[in-house]
Amino acid sequence: MAWMLVLPVRRWIISPQVLADRLGLTPSDEVLELGCGPGYFSAEIARRVPAGHVHLADIQPEMLEKARARLTRAGCTNATFTVTDAAGLPYADASMDVAFLVTVLGEISDPAAALRELHRVLRPGGTLSITEAAGDPGLRDPAALDALLGPAGFERTATAGGRRAATSTYRRSQADHGEA
Ligand SMILES: C[S@@+](CC[C@H](N)C(=O)[O-])C[C@H]1O[C@@H](n2cnc3c(N)ncnc32)[C@H](O)[C@@H]1O
Repeated sequence: MAWMLVLPVRRWIISPQVLADRLGLTPSDEVLELGCGPGYFSAEIARRVPAGHVHLADIQPEMLEKARARLTRAGCTNATFTVTDAAGLPYADASMDVAFLVTVLGEISDPAAALRELHRVLRPGGTLSITEAAGDPGLRDPAALDALLGPAGFERTATAGGRRAATSTYRRSQADHGEA
């Protein structure tokens, strides 16, 4: 189904530019895109962090290969591609400024483990952005997201968009949160 994720009509739901605007990036940010799929959003994010880096991660190697081809075509050189399960991210503690997921959380079999890992790899005060779109399997409304993310050490700082694609922005707590 990867082809559906890169259809131009997807801009009507949320475009890469709109998503990037919602991330509040600075040019030197280290950004983790968890569940990048075929990379529909990735090139735009890479362009917004010319002195930083985008770390694309997905559990499916085929998705990462599509994303790699897409970013190569777009001329992006500040990106790396890693096959990984969200429950065990191969990144150092506090190494990311921003992490984002678009229509991914509902697919992750162990969201609590994924959130523990996201908390570990984000720096204190770093940003976690979660975008959910109409029709997602496992779609959560903002209250359900808060119920999941609050106990995991994230505090909501913004909400953008609407029924088509809602982006919830959270700040990672300053304190460690039971990471190993
Ligand atoms: C619906 S697709 C969304 C892809 C992309 N974010 C987008 O919006 O175009 C969900 C992606 O999450 C990935 N995924 C699902 N479970 C995962 C996990 N446990 N760890 C990492 N990636 C996962 C899938 O392989 C898939 O590429």
